[in-house]
Amino acid sequence: MKKTILFFGSALAITMLVASCATSDPNSPGFEFAPDMYRSPSYESNSSNGLFADSITNRKPAEGTIAIGYMPYPYPNNDSGYAWAGRNLKNPFAATPEIIAEGKKKYDIFCTHCHGATGMGDGKVGGKLPGPPPAYNAALKNLTEGAMYHSIHYGKGNMGSHASQLTAEERWKIIRYVQTLQNPGGMPAPAPADSTKKEEKKG
Ligand code: HEC
Repeated sequence: MKKTILFFGSALAITMLVASCATSDPNSPGFEFAPDMYRSPSYESNSSNGLFADSITNRKPAEGTIAIGYMPYPYPNNDSGYAWAGRNLKNPFAATPEIIAEGKKKYDIFCTHCHGATGMGDGKVGGKLPGPPPAYNAALKNLTEGAMYHSIHYGKGNMGSHASQLTAEERWKIIRYVQTLQNPGGMPAPAPADSTKKEEKKG
């Protein structure tokens, strides 16, 4: 009996020792009974890759392809691109109270600190800039929606690009709101609070 215990005891000890020393990889889980279950034959995103000369697994999309949901912006970041966008780009959203309310919500988050709540260029940050933003209802009164879109996309002067923060839809909705600041009283008033709640449910 003693011998049997000794035999199984040492067999177990040896197995554990072998299993724990089986690999020097610190990421290894140790002995694996069915490695196929753990290890996928595909390359991990950030691992190196012998199939490519630059050994990078993360490949860029093939040239000429467009990612789903991504809309290329064809207007270049220069004066003629600005003029062209200003003439061509049209807001796909109608100036309904709901759209304006959605735009106001984003404006309050992304723009108020520079442009001010009423678009006078007197936001807490904007007022401190060497060149504060011009007022929407004065210097920017006749700025077209396309030019606005272009400037939000690339930024202008002391205003940075908002391309990564705002989707095309969000920018257009904000522009609908900015137009109410360009022409106070000339556009439908921002929607009452209940349509804002609707938006919250959606998101
Ligand atoms: C960091 C401060 C800052 C923030 C944030 C900011 N702006 Fe501006 N914005 C400016 C300044 C400064 C100008 C004036 C740029 C110039 O003409 O040199 C400007 C100009 C503009 C113009 C006029 C562009 C043109 O073509 O003349 C529009 C429209 C505008 N901003 C919209 C927005 C909107 C919408 C947001 C929020 C999504 C926003 N800005 C966020 C500072 C800011």
